[in-house]
Amino acid sequence: MSRLALASARAEAIRPFYVMEIMGRAERRPKDAPPVVSMVVGEPDFPAPAPVVQAAAQALAEGRIHYTSAIGLVALREAIAQDYADRDAIQVSPGRIAVTAGASAGLLLAMAAVINPGDEVLITDPGYPCNRQFVLALGGVPKTIAVRPENQFQPTAEEVAKAWGPNTRALLLASPANPTGCMVSEAEAQKIFQVIEDRAGWLIADEIYLRLVFAGHRRSLLCISENVISVNSFSKTYSMTGWRLGWLVVPDRLMPAIERLSQNLFISPSTLSQKAAIAAFHPESRRVADDYRARYVGQAQYLLPALQNLGFRLPAQPEGAFYGFFDVSALTDDSYALCEALCDKAGVLMAPGKDFTEVDAHRYLRVSFPKPLAQLQKGVARLTAFFS
Ligand SMILES: Cc1ncc(COP(=O)(O)O)c(C=O)c1O
Repeated sequence: MSRLALASARAEAIRPFYVMEIMGRAERRPKDAPPVVSMVVGEPDFPAPAPVVQAAAQALAEGRIHYTSAIGLVALREAIAQDYADRDAIQVSPGRIAVTAGASAGLLLAMAAVINPGDEVLITDPGYPCNRQFVLALGGVPKTIAVRPENQFQPTAEEVAKAWGPNTRALLLASPANPTGCMVSEAEAQKIFQVIEDRAGWLIADEIYLRLVFAGHRRSLLCISENVISVNSFSKTYSMTGWRLGWLVVPDRLMPAIERLSQNLFISPSTLSQKAAIAAFHPESRRVADDYRARYVGQAQYLLPALQNLGFRLPAQPEGAFYGFFDVSALTDDSYALCEALCDKAGVLMAPGKDFTEVDAHRYLRVSFPKPLAQLQKGVARLTAFFS
């Protein structure tokens, strides 16, 4: 009898998002149940700005959708560089920018460029669940720093210094972060960078939510040094999740490695999306994206206090993105069971804490709110009925 070939142990070790189980559960709700209110996926509902859609239509009509350079179209890289100059007064040469298939490919490329097998990468807990998998896929060793609410769920320089060992190669942090929406201050990031530079390591900053800060202006951590690696994306800022386009900024000396990796792993990012994304930097697209951001601010102002009134505790106030990471231990001793009950009985979907943390996961859940206000209001009305 012949034996079937199986998936690798590494692939088998990757677990699915628990969020998917909640979403699968929602699909099994009775046919006559009212549609769910989803606060579960980190994805804006809005369309991409009109100039982006028009540029895509024009590119399609011209019919020239061939491979581009592995690091992307020069015109797009120049537009990204100009955006850093305009918004943050940071001079980034287009030669340091590589366009990628979303922040996801950016994270993979950045890690592939700096990690040797067996190298440790410091990641935060709570944090974005895929980070661990990127490190593991490259033969690295993820090591978590249990970040604390009193520090806005961000690492401190002291914690980084303490966690750094002889085999540590990099720290990956996100600011604003998923699942918390919390940010690291520029001053603390400076200190963290110093700790890392003293140890000849890399600071990888995932800045996918940088342009979705609620109040005031925050600069990219690229302002600290040319040696910071920054990962970014069109997905959230411009509501372009399905266009699969992002970018990386790296120091000059890393660019040849990034280009070779990108050539081999991807050939090039999507040409159609790149041609469209140039238009994301038009003033009209910027206006639309700013309007989306303003809506997230309004949604946060409504939803976060409304949930707090229901007994959800917010250990750290989000400063950007569209998430709240709540401690629900006053309502349940098992946040996953609560997410299941909210799905079944209230028709409201939330993401269980165990997708994002291994520290007291049962206490936490993540609420995602890039949804129309009316939907959020409906959700709160259902939750109010559920908890009363
Ligand atoms: C912190 C963080 N980084 C990266 C990503 C991946 O985004 P992209 O769609 O650009 O691949 C996400 C998506 O949710 C995210 O939350």
